[in-house]
Amino acid sequence: MKYDVTVIGSGPGGYVAAIRAAQLGLKTALIEKYSTLGGTCLNVGCIPSKALLDSSEHFHNALHNFKEHGIDIPTPQVNLPQMIKRKSEVVSQTVAGINFLMKKNKIDVHQGVGSFVTANQIKITAADGTSTTIETDKTIIATGSKPIILPTVPYDKKRIITSTEALNMPEVPKSMIIIGGGVIGMELGSVYGRLGTKITVVEFLDGLIPTMDKTMGKELQKVLAKIGFSFHFKHKVLDAKVEGEEVVVRAENEKGEIVELRADYCLLSIGRKPYTAGLGLENIGIKTDNKGRVEVNDHLETNVKGIYAIGDVIKGAMLAHKAEEEGVFVAETIAGQKPHINYLLIPGVVYTWPEVAAVGYTEEELKASGKAYKVGSFPFKASGRARASMDLDGLVKVLADAKTDEILGVHMIGPRTADMIAEAVVAMEFRASAEDIARMSHAHPTFTESFKEACLAATQNRALHI
Ligand code: FAD
Ligand code: NAI
Repeated sequence: MKYDVTVIGSGPGGYVAAIRAAQLGLKTALIEKYSTLGGTCLNVGCIPSKALLDSSEHFHNALHNFKEHGIDIPTPQVNLPQMIKRKSEVVSQTVAGINFLMKKNKIDVHQGVGSFVTANQIKITAADGTSTTIETDKTIIATGSKPIILPTVPYDKKRIITSTEALNMPEVPKSMIIIGGGVIGMELGSVYGRLGTKITVVEFLDGLIPTMDKTMGKELQKVLAKIGFSFHFKHKVLDAKVEGEEVVVRAENEKGEIVELRADYCLLSIGRKPYTAGLGLENIGIKTDNKGRVEVNDHLETNVKGIYAIGDVIKGAMLAHKAEEEGVFVAETIAGQKPHINYLLIPGVVYTWPEVAAVGYTEEELKASGKAYKVGSFPFKASGRARASMDLDGLVKVLADAKTDEILGVHMIGPRTADMIAEAVVAMEFRASAEDIARMSHAHPTFTESFKEACLAATQNRALHI
């Protein structure tokens, strides 16, 4: 078996790279060690978490908001096994779609662990121990990432869990300690918080989702506090232990005091690390950096010619759409094209409710760089559409160049901002000024008017509805 391109790992980076390579006429193989395709994103990440977020949001609305809308129903009950079953069906259907795409594009799928023998030979070891070796001209490493585990927090997959177990809980926890106030913690915390779990967040830094613009974390904290979240910021987790059916977490606060927290579950969500185990990088001398990420140059090529790497296993945001863009980029590079990725314009979204979405620079980054900027913001409570749907929390914040008015960053927390951020990405890709957006018609009444209003505010401080 000889291929033009072999992709190792079938997540959103790998399977998209394989499709693009096949579209470009390259004979392509895809190696995946798990029994299903789609990687973290489809099996234990983006898709199942969004399925549970949607279900739990429906429950929350039925319990708290239907009455106000004039819908009287008996008190709704959570049927967690059914919620998890629906989530699993969504995953199966999505994964089946990838199998179809592989067949359609005539990509050979090999099941097993891929490992380098030489730069042009990859051994595939199946679960039953049998192995085959394939020849390849070029290889794309797309082996993704795994959760980071604190050595002093014994991860037993039962009481002390990661996102993978949190997507398959046997019961709705009465209480849950979440270590890490980042994206996974807030999304999965929202799922169980809405179902009635008492959530306690322990975060090392001084706010939630700390890599995003600080205004977003502050707003999100207010909303999550309304559904019963409590927060311990500037707390460093020291250790944890399981005592019967309870987890005891010890953390140290700013003053050096030890705080002891108890709950029936503890979710560890302190980030993810690149996954390269079993790949045999050492067999051919592929370099990794001090965080274990495969090192790549501007063409995403490793130090070994003809071997590329993409997605979570390399530097940059650990996002499915970033991995996808890189998959296309490498396939096109191999085919002799000259593709380009604008990393500044890869949006970030947190699928809580309200959703948080952002693109471009944060205010903190602009301050640190010394760039002169202006800010325009618009609260959803001033939006007619948001009043109609009872989604009054949040705001849109636009950062624009003080001299040229070019949009430098857009940060939104509010209803459907995950979808709304696309307009900001387009605007910034075409280097729009805040005034450009302010002068474009936005359908009324829509949530998108809030982006226009924030741009009006940034342009000449002339928002119309505040
Ligand atoms: P992965 O998806 O991790 O895929 C890597 C694949 O490689 C795996 O299937 C693995 O089995 C396989 N593999 C590894 N080593 C080998 C080997 N030697 N041989 C063969 N196969 C191998 N991102 C978003 O953009 N939006 C979201 O909403 C979102 N939600 C998330 C929710 C959760 C709970 C989690 C955990 C992550 C979420 N992410 C989200 C992040 C997203 O899942 C990752 O950024 C994305 O999956 C990375 O894609 P990838 O192709 O680089 O790797
Ligand atoms: P994260 O990096 O988003 O957040 C981790 C948090 O843990 C940080 O706020 C950090 O300060 C804190 N932390 C680290 N060590 C700590 C300690 N010892 N004690 C207390 N707090 C500590 O990581 P997370 O949430 O695990 O998610 C991993 C990645 O998965 C994300 O960075 C993101 O790339 C991806 N993801 C994306 C989603 C999306 O796009 N909607 C959804 C879920 C995950």
